[in-house]
Amino acid sequence: MKGKQVLLTGGTGGLGLGVTPAVLAQGAELTIPYRNLKDVERLKGILSPADIARIQFIPANLEEESSVDKLISRMTKVDVLIHLVGGFSMGKTHEYSFYNWKREFELNLNTTFLTCKYSLTRMLENDYGRIVTIASRSGLEPARNLAAYSAAKAGVIALTKAIADETKGTNITANTVLPSVIDTPANRQAMGEENADKWVKPESIAEVICFLASEAAKDVRGAAIPVYGNI
Ligand SMILES: NC(=O)c1ccc[n+]([C@@H]2O[C@H](COP(=O)([O-])OP(=O)(O)OC[C@H]3O[C@@H](n4cnc5c(N)ncnc54)[C@H](OP(=O)(O)O)[C@@H]3O)[C@@H](O)[C@H]2O)c1
Repeated sequence: MKGKQVLLTGGTGGLGLGVTPAVLAQGAELTIPYRNLKDVERLKGILSPADIARIQFIPANLEEESSVDKLISRMTKVDVLIHLVGGFSMGKTHEYSFYNWKREFELNLNTTFLTCKYSLTRMLENDYGRIVTIASRSGLEPARNLAAYSAAKAGVIALTKAIADETKGTNITANTVLPSVIDTPANRQAMGEENADKWVKPESIAEVICFLASEAAKDVRGAAIPVYGNI
């Protein structure tokens, strides 16, 4: 990814703490949208000044089309989209609010659609692009109390595969990565550290993402790759 312009969404989040340094290590120039300056400072705390100089941080709400359009129009080109933004809330289906149901789709599926749509337009101009989305194991194996999240992530898998089919015959690819439980600070706080050694490390997911985002992965299209660690 040397010299490539990479849009890395969610780069300041828990998974981002592993993915951002890995993408920087490949020599890329990054654009990272953010909502929360505290998360930007947390990320900067683990990076060198030289690495920080290769990131442009732009405030953006990826649930709003105009915000995504504006964000991507500030990039000179978009070689790579790595879309980490997403999140989940739990609840039994009969108790789950319709508001939360729609929130899960906004956060996981609609942000993926919008960032893919606007990135693809720029990628098609140059006949080059690598799109890597993040779904979840739940998108393939829906779990109890996670109906909305599982359905939204199944949508992310379907969307990514559809883009991969649409871009056949170009030098643009789209693939998705399916983590299980990731070893993030938030998960350690929520679930304790007892089983953390079984969870997949952000750095390990980053290796898979970096391969899919590289020129070398030109013939990998529409893959949904499980990265489950030891669970
Ligand atoms: N953690 C896990 O165990 C796990 C397992 C399977 C799959 N995944 C998937 O992996 C991805 C990363 O998870 P994570 O644990 O790193 O989550 P995270 O720590 O919550 O990071 C998500 C990032 O996305 C940002 N974001 C959320 N909504 C946004 C919006 N509308 N506009 C712009 N930025 C927004 C968040 O910013 P704010 O802080 O402002 O909200 C945060 O920086 C997600 O897609 C998640 O579903 C996670």
